[in-house]
Amino acid sequence: MKVAVIGAAGGIGQALALLLKLRLPGHAELALYDIAPVTPGVAVDLSHIPTTVSITGYTGDDPSPALEGADVVLIPAGVARKPGMSRADLFNVNASIAKSVIEKVTEVCPNALVAIITNPVNTLVPIAAEIMKKAGVYDKRKLFGVTALDVLRAEDFVAELKEVDADKVYVPVVCGHSATTILPLLSQVEGLSFTEEEILSLTQRVQNAGTEVVEAKAGGGSATLSMAEAGCEFALSLVNGLMGKEDVLCAYVEGNTQYARFFSQPVRLGKNGIEEFMDLGPLSDYESAELDKMADILQADIQKGVDFIE
Ligand SMILES: NC(=O)c1ccc[n+]([C@@H]2O[C@H](COP(=O)([O-])OP(=O)(O)OC[C@H]3O[C@@H](n4cnc5c(N)ncnc54)[C@H](O)[C@@H]3O)[C@@H](O)[C@H]2O)c1
Repeated sequence: MKVAVIGAAGGIGQALALLLKLRLPGHAELALYDIAPVTPGVAVDLSHIPTTVSITGYTGDDPSPALEGADVVLIPAGVARKPGMSRADLFNVNASIAKSVIEKVTEVCPNALVAIITNPVNTLVPIAAEIMKKAGVYDKRKLFGVTALDVLRAEDFVAELKEVDADKVYVPVVCGHSATTILPLLSQVEGLSFTEEEILSLTQRVQNAGTEVVEAKAGGGSATLSMAEAGCEFALSLVNGLMGKEDVLCAYVEGNTQYARFFSQPVRLGKNGIEEFMDLGPLSDYESAELDKMADILQADIQKGVDFIE
């Protein structure tokens, strides 16, 4: 099993590489690439941690050596937010970075599972899909926008409020990955119930959690360590799925909901990537109404990506 991290010298990339070096199963191969010249050194540094995972690091203009033979490609390459910025403000820079990386992926490892962490996720995943389609290698079961951090945050905030163990709480978070399109489905949390006030404040906190970190870091970037943890768990689910151990999680995919072409929804992972696009399940009136409102915003984000490629 080979996992490539593209953007591996950044705040997310380095922490993600560390977690993968510690947690990937068996004799997996981890390949790091970043335009930052420090990247081979990051790999040497991590190589001294005695695990069975082998690691290589590459820099320069071409990510091909890292991508060759990759089963899973994780992409946190790009710029992060500063205070006052929305994820959409990153579009101009990150769309071009994502385009160049995805073009290489379609050439070098067209069958890999590809997970985009870079923002704006709502728009970059459609860009990736359009590039792959043009290259004739698109398979919607293999392309993911990573919204796992929204799930991790929702679970943490619910556990804190209800004074229960976070690892016993599961909160599906659906729709998209921007303040106005993130929706935790609190009505589906098993064994817990919430007042109307709690639903509103938890929903808002999950939607604004990224900005909470951006402001607390005061110009030093956005969430990196929590994103690395969420990204590592997500990558392990992809890898385990490829090895036949199925798992269900939420991801931003070209799915089958009535709301938008791309949507974060529960999917069942297996040997081919996504084995099943799952139903959203029963929604409360509040959740249905919110999704109706969010659909227009999400569709505009998706269209922006399609227009960028056209
Ligand atoms: N999906 C999520 O939930 C989520 C959460 C937090 C952050 N993010 C996003 O992740 C991205 C990365 O965040 P970060 O804090 O690690 O940023 P960072 O600036 O610390 O790191 C980004 C890295 O990307 C590299 N890079 C730039 N262009 C590249 C290219 N063409 N090829 C390879 N590498 C390239 C840079 O050299 C840098 O090392 C941002 O867009 C941020 O908004 C997403």
